[in-house]
Amino acid sequence: MRKLNNQRTALIAAAFVVGLAVLIGALVAPKGLGAADRNPDGSYTGTQLEGTTPAQWRMIWGSDPAHNATMSWTTAADPKSSGVFYDTQSHNGELAKYAHHVDAKTGRYSDDEWKLWYNHAELTGLKPDTTYWLVMVSDGIASREFHFKTAPDGDAEFKLLYGGDSRSDRDGRRTMNRRMRTLLEEDPEILALAHGGDYVREGDELEDWVEWMTDHELTVTEDGRLLPVIPARGNHEASGPIYDEIWNTPGKKDCNFYSTKIGDEFLLITLNSNISAGGNQADFLETTLKDNAKVRWQCANYHRPAYPAVKSPGAALEHWVPLFEKYNLDIAFESDGHTLKRTCAIRGGKPDATGVVYIGEGGLGVKQRTPKPDRWYFKNGVTASTLHVQKLSVKKDSLTVESITDKGEVYDTYTAKPRKR
Ligand SMILES: [Fe+2]
Repeated sequence: MRKLNNQRTALIAAAFVVGLAVLIGALVAPKGLGAADRNPDGSYTGTQLEGTTPAQWRMIWGSDPAHNATMSWTTAADPKSSGVFYDTQSHNGELAKYAHHVDAKTGRYSDDEWKLWYNHAELTGLKPDTTYWLVMVSDGIASREFHFKTAPDGDAEFKLLYGGDSRSDRDGRRTMNRRMRTLLEEDPEILALAHGGDYVREGDELEDWVEWMTDHELTVTEDGRLLPVIPARGNHEASGPIYDEIWNTPGKKDCNFYSTKIGDEFLLITLNSNISAGGNQADFLETTLKDNAKVRWQCANYHRPAYPAVKSPGAALEHWVPLFEKYNLDIAFESDGHTLKRTCAIRGGKPDATGVVYIGEGGLGVKQRTPKPDRWYFKNGVTASTLHVQKLSVKKDSLTVESITDKGEVYDTYTAKPRKR
């Protein structure tokens, strides 16, 4: 009898512990993520890499996000078949009801130790300004249903996020991912995140990317909305192949520079500061600026700054800034410095109200450095040492950039007016 009582007590105690863990899990785990995504203590562990279960989801935007998007994920086994079911309405994961399906291309990530496979499903022929609902399926194992909104066409108003340097401080990165999710939940006009590079500490180590991609799941909203990424390569991604395996080779291989049009009046040029800034990359930049000379808003995104808050200038200063000024770029977004910064408007190496403003410079999850506010281009500008993300509000009569801290406070606001083009 005593033995039975002991067993009963043990059972009640175990049930209590499990119940407590579930309660803590419910309180602490990110909204919209399932029980399998939690550690027993309730902390977030990410979708488990198990067989062909779709995990580490990320949506990638390239040059024409009104019509194309790539849905990518990771599996722990090599899937025989892999693809995305999608539609312009929700079917709650009932695969037979989705109007469209596209196969994913798959391959093993370049790593000797980790055996993981990438899956890239390229969705094409999409309608602009439309919400698509999708499910990833690898060898019959389906993800939950997600959704995203394609970019608008025409002269549209919308919002974007910009941020870089999400390496080295995992707690900070998770905090910023949760911050971005909150921003997306509060403001559905936000379409995507332009990332300025240095995602991870060692770009040739898949282990670092496994952590990054797992943490990226935290950007998904409670109701399953994805935050597409427009990626730029940073110096910590070096020239290794994993970057292209994660991001489905944005731009051409060994180049990774390309332009993105959102609507008719917003141009974002993504450059690669990890290869030669001159030569064919400078040619691409000039051609793109010339071809889009009449586009109202023109921005660039690259990693190593021309007007840094901490380090010395990169090759962008010599090769890209003259073109920015010649074609009247509005804002260059820069990363790498691990500070918050906004310069004054600059032309010809001095303050000039008609010039280009440089905003950055890396705060998505990296220990912040001490900026150098005495540099001449920060007179009438701003520097700070705080994790941050920038929110761009693109309107017909203004382009506003708010620098938002990890606590959700707006630290700095800059507003550009349309140029005469
Ligand atoms: Fe960097």
